[in-house]
Amino acid sequence: MDYKSLKISIENFIATIQIFRPEKRNAMDPVSWVELDQAMKQLTLNQEVRVIVITGYEKVFVAGADIQWIHDRRPLDIYGVAVQDVLMNIYRSYKPVIAAINGYALGGGCELALACDIRIGCESAKLGQPEINLGILPAGGGTQQLTRIVGLAKAKELILTGDLIDASEAYRLNLLNHVLPDEQLMDKVYEVASKISGKSPVAVKMAKIALNESSTADLSSGLALEKALQAILFSTEDKKEGTKAFLEKRKPVFNGE
Ligand code: COA
Repeated sequence: MDYKSLKISIENFIATIQIFRPEKRNAMDPVSWVELDQAMKQLTLNQEVRVIVITGYEKVFVAGADIQWIHDRRPLDIYGVAVQDVLMNIYRSYKPVIAAINGYALGGGCELALACDIRIGCESAKLGQPEINLGILPAGGGTQQLTRIVGLAKAKELILTGDLIDASEAYRLNLLNHVLPDEQLMDKVYEVASKISGKSPVAVKMAKIALNESSTADLSSGLALEKALQAILFSTEDKKEGTKAFLEKRKPVFNGE
C-alpha cells in the first residue's frame, strides 16, 4: 500500500515506519494519523513482522499534530480522526513497538513516543509537550502516559510549562531507555529490535499484555492475568522449543505457535 506521509520497510522480521512529511517537520495532519493507524493494523497482522520501529526524518521525529489542523478543528472533531485512539492502538498493539527518536519529539510526537514500548533517542533529540503554549492540553494520552513514566510532579512541570528537555534529561527521567550519539541511533535500535524478534512472538505478545495491565490493574488482578497468560504459554510449541533448546544446549527457533 502506498502512503503519502509514511515510508515502510520490512527486513528480518522488523518493520520500520518512517514518518515523512519533511516540509512540515513531520507534523501529523489527519492523513498522516489515518495512515499511521492503517499501517500499524497491517503490520500487526503481518506474520513476517515481529517488531515495529517508528522513526522520523532528518532532525525531527515528529513536531506534533499539524497546528493548522488544530486551529481549524471544531470541538466534536476530536471524535473524528482521534489522535488518542491512533496512539492507544499503538500502545495496545500485540507487537512490540520501538520509537527511534532521531530529533524533535514534540506534542503529539512526544505522545507517539510515549505510546511505544521502548524509546531510544539520539543525543540531539528534544522532547516535550508544548501544547500549553497553544492554549490546549496533550490529549493523545499525554497527561496519563507521561505521568506513568516520569511521575506526577515532573509530568505536571513538563505539561504546565511546555518546556522541552534534552535527551540526557529524558534519559534521567526514564523517558528514554537509551541515548546514543546521533549516528549510532539506528544501530542500537535494530540491535534491540533484533534481540526481541528472536524471541517467541507469542511470549512477547503475552508479556506485553501483562506489562500494559500493570499500570492500571490492582496487584491481585494483575497477578491473576499474569498466571492465566503463563498457562496459555505453557500450551505453546514455542515453550516446548525454548525449554528443549536450553536442555539440548542449542539456540531455540521460535515459530510463534
Ligand atoms: N504543525 C504545523 N506545521 C508545523 C509544525 C506543526 N506542529 N511544526 C513545524 N511546522 C512547519 C512550520 O510552520 C514551517 O512551515 P512553513 O515553512 O510553511 O512556514 C515548517 O514546518 C518548518 O518549521 P520551522 O519552525 O521553520 O522549523 P525549525 O527547524 O526552525 O523548528 C521545530 C522545528 C519542530 C522546533 C518547530 O517547528 C516547532 O516548534 N514546531 C511546533 C512544535 C509544537 O508546538 N508542537 C505541538 C503541536 S500539538
